[in-house]
Amino acid sequence: MTQIEENKPEVKDTPLVPIEKVVSLSKRRGFVFPNSEIYGGVAGIYDFGPLGVEMRNNIRRYWWWSMVQNHDNVVGIEGATITHPRVWEASGHVENFVDRLVDCKKCKRRFRTDHLEPENLEQHKCPVCGGELTSEPRVFNLLMETYLGVVEGDRMKTYLRGEACQNIYLDYDNVVKSSRVQVPFGICQIGKAYRNEVTPGNFLFRQREFEQWDLQFFVHPSEMDKWYEYWKNFRFEWYKGIVNHKDRLRFREHGSDELAHYAKKAFDVEYKTVLGWQEWEGVHWRQDWDLSRHSEYSGQDLSYTDPLTKERYIPWIVETSGGVDRTFLNLLLDAYEEEPDPNGKEPRTVLHLHPWLAPVKVAVLPLQKNKEELVSSARSIHENLRRYMVSQYDDVANIGRRYRRQDEIGTPFCVTVDFQTLDDQTVTVRERDGMTQIRLPISELTMYLLDRVTWK
Ligand code: GAP
Repeated sequence: MTQIEENKPEVKDTPLVPIEKVVSLSKRRGFVFPNSEIYGGVAGIYDFGPLGVEMRNNIRRYWWWSMVQNHDNVVGIEGATITHPRVWEASGHVENFVDRLVDCKKCKRRFRTDHLEPENLEQHKCPVCGGELTSEPRVFNLLMETYLGVVEGDRMKTYLRGEACQNIYLDYDNVVKSSRVQVPFGICQIGKAYRNEVTPGNFLFRQREFEQWDLQFFVHPSEMDKWYEYWKNFRFEWYKGIVNHKDRLRFREHGSDELAHYAKKAFDVEYKTVLGWQEWEGVHWRQDWDLSRHSEYSGQDLSYTDPLTKERYIPWIVETSGGVDRTFLNLLLDAYEEEPDPNGKEPRTVLHLHPWLAPVKVAVLPLQKNKEELVSSARSIHENLRRYMVSQYDDVANIGRRYRRQDEIGTPFCVTVDFQTLDDQTVTVRERDGMTQIRLPISELTMYLLDRVTWK
């Protein structure tokens, strides 16, 4: 263990971070922008900026590495976001993928009935102004419609996919025939999903276009319990590994009244933020719902024949389904801290992001910008490092200001090139959380950093 790791501070029990803090940081530093902002924006749709796209790619790649590359019995696909319309009849979404809404007659606010407290529902009482709520809920289907073809009359109505995982069932048979996988095995996918959410909001938490990561794990019915437990625990540990506040994670089992139409049993991995305990990922016992329904609706037999026993059956499915955007938001909320300054100066805003997921891994800073030798040494270190990781070169403002700028975007390491560097080819490496500094030969720098910013 190096001096830097020894001096890393314990995770503090910091207060829950208001969403507005990360919305403001995201815009100011280029993580997330409201979509179509110059036209007034669109509710529930966001774009990712230069830092956001780096962090998002890291999140995606780490998930893919853990789920696909690191499991011999899991493969990946990437499906289209538009499918045949029958898919959504077979999946049950045309019939069941609905939200029920009531309106307040006084303040005109809208509420999803499943988000209301029972007493508000029973007494038809608005939780905000106390006014009267409409008694008959209006029902809205969340699927987003679109049309294929240009000629009026020949156009086919279909849907943007309402849950990304459907492609996995559609490609299941092709994967079995082309990939030599055998039950038990899994198929993973990361991809966009679209929902006409009636109450989008809370920044990235509930959007209308968002990205999901799914594993569908196909098992013999007799092994469902075992694999359900395996993936449930695996996913919980996975989330535990990337957050600072591990005590803000928990499992919650769905009551029978809240199970989705495809699930016989479901546990949510929940994370506590200012929004309360909220779903981060669902681990669903989908049983044979999907393959049976697609067999029935398509007329194609999607059963599996065991190569040894020759038993023929529809595999059951364990699903783990989470959100890339919700992960992004939770990680920002988990990492954000305004650390009081011991000398009473401005607090230090710092993102304690896991180094694996931070958008920029290292910043290379010459102590002074008007000393040519310092600048050229720093530039050459940066040009070498950027071949291996995201590195930023910065020579604008005093060194303290530059450290603060990097802390605010979660850069785990800053490398400072000073006058000693010119004498002995060593640099200062400063770590973000403890602000501890060590001196390292330039020749050891790349390996030192790679060891800390690459997942293993
Ligand atoms: N295939 C199962 C499925 O789609 P879900 O619980 O509806 O299950 C899975 O969605 C995950 O997708 C959620 O746990 C959440 O992380 C994310 N998610 C769902 N709706 C979302 C929305 N409107 N905005 C952002 N993320 C969302």
